[in-house]
Amino acid sequence: MIIPVIQATQGYQLKSQIEKREAKVGVIGLGYVGLPLSLLYVGEGFPVTGFDIDQRKIDSLTEGKSYIYRIATEEIQEARAKEFAATSEFQRLAEMDAIIICVPTPLNEHQGPDTSFIINTARAIAPHLRAGQLVILESTTYPGTTEELLVPILERENQKGLKAARHDVTSETAGEFFVAFSPEREDPGNTTVARRDIPKIVGGLDPQAAELAASLYGAIFNRVVQVSSPAAAEMTKLLENIYRCVNIALVNELKLLCLRMGLDIWEVIDAAATKPFGYQPFYPGPGLGGHCIPIDPFYLSWKAKEFDFCTRFIELAGEINVGMPYHVVASLAAALNKQKKALNGAHVMLLGVAYKKDIDDLRESPALTIIELLRKEGVTISYNDPYIPSIGKGRKYDLQMSCAPLDHLEEYDCVLIVTDHSSYDYGSIVEESQLVVDTRNATRGILSPKIVRC
Ligand SMILES: NC(=O)c1ccc[n+]([C@@H]2O[C@H](COP(=O)([O-])OP(=O)(O)OC[C@H]3O[C@@H](n4cnc5c(N)ncnc54)[C@H](O)[C@@H]3O)[C@@H](O)[C@H]2O)c1
Repeated sequence: MIIPVIQATQGYQLKSQIEKREAKVGVIGLGYVGLPLSLLYVGEGFPVTGFDIDQRKIDSLTEGKSYIYRIATEEIQEARAKEFAATSEFQRLAEMDAIIICVPTPLNEHQGPDTSFIINTARAIAPHLRAGQLVILESTTYPGTTEELLVPILERENQKGLKAARHDVTSETAGEFFVAFSPEREDPGNTTVARRDIPKIVGGLDPQAAELAASLYGAIFNRVVQVSSPAAAEMTKLLENIYRCVNIALVNELKLLCLRMGLDIWEVIDAAATKPFGYQPFYPGPGLGGHCIPIDPFYLSWKAKEFDFCTRFIELAGEINVGMPYHVVASLAAALNKQKKALNGAHVMLLGVAYKKDIDDLRESPALTIIELLRKEGVTISYNDPYIPSIGKGRKYDLQMSCAPLDHLEEYDCVLIVTDHSSYDYGSIVEESQLVVDTRNATRGILSPKIVRC
């Protein structure tokens, strides 16, 4: 392929700016993904500007304060002392050399993709787009989003007639800006793998875009893996998350069978995990949570319909995982019943509402569904979570609760462990409680007739 001179020169200039750490990096969406990413670039010496529509986040960062538990306020202050600014003035996007989009991709009320955040972001970028810029989408989404949704908006609404550099351009129709997709693969709460050591996948709309994106990420990640297109990169992320979702559903289903057969699923998983090949352990739980695993697979199911294709594994896994909070409620009812108590009128202390241990993220947490189900059954419910001081209103819930102190556990009819935070002393919890229903095997190794593992 012949790369036109203007496009080649612009690409060369950007590459050189990246190599010299002079490229201005704009990160759109300063949440769990965008803020740590911004800090990595600041740490590597890049001038970084973060953009968000949430003025509280902008104000907090401008004051040098963090709003994410695992990011210390000192890190924000250090970044501010270097070249980091946060703003909601999107006209400043024109100053950026590379723009990375990290906005949410939730489901809509019909369980289909809600791409409104990507669309709004594309519309915010387009008027300020200029030749030579690199735009990268990081939000998890269905294959085709970058090429079919993002690029057309950028091209249609930029008013300067700028076109994206494409794989098949001829010298006359060359692009003026570069586009790539690169999925975020972070594992919140995982302290064993440094973010830098997670290989970064990159798919460019054309080889030059791929090379520029690889060069930009090469500055902060130890390994960059290029794939042939944005769609291949989009699909890679979905494969990873669907693999996880399906395997969690598998162990959740086998847990239900093991309970019926009087077997301990955790013992079985630990034994199977000793096999040095062909097996990777996944663990059962009270249901899926987080912004990724319960949501992303349905982005693919939705897209597959366009191809008359039914993604049966995804649907089945979804059905099993969605049923787990109902299993928890039924197990709690059975455990109380053994003590001649009913759900109706019981006072239950729920431990851990974050969707997984040692993090402060409540999104799609199964604890929220469990609380709603228990309230419907007439349970008075309190919760404790060292990372979540209160629960307000979210996409699918409106609970209005505050974290209760972890004391007088003997006054509750049952303590229900939903998230196994490491900071809890499970021995004392069992000792002080009348009854403990444990959905995570957090009480492993503790022998007590008060414990019901479910
Ligand atoms: N959180 C994770 O662990 C994780 C891991 C891998 C991938 N992802 C994916 O990364 C993406 C972002 O996830 P997140 O967890 O950071 O979400 P988040 O909700 O924590 O952050 C998103 C941010 O984008 C901002 N925003 C929304 N619309 C905007 C707009 N038009 N312009 C500017 N800012 C806007 C929000 O105010 C928010 O601060 C999602 O697609 C998610 O699936 C997340």
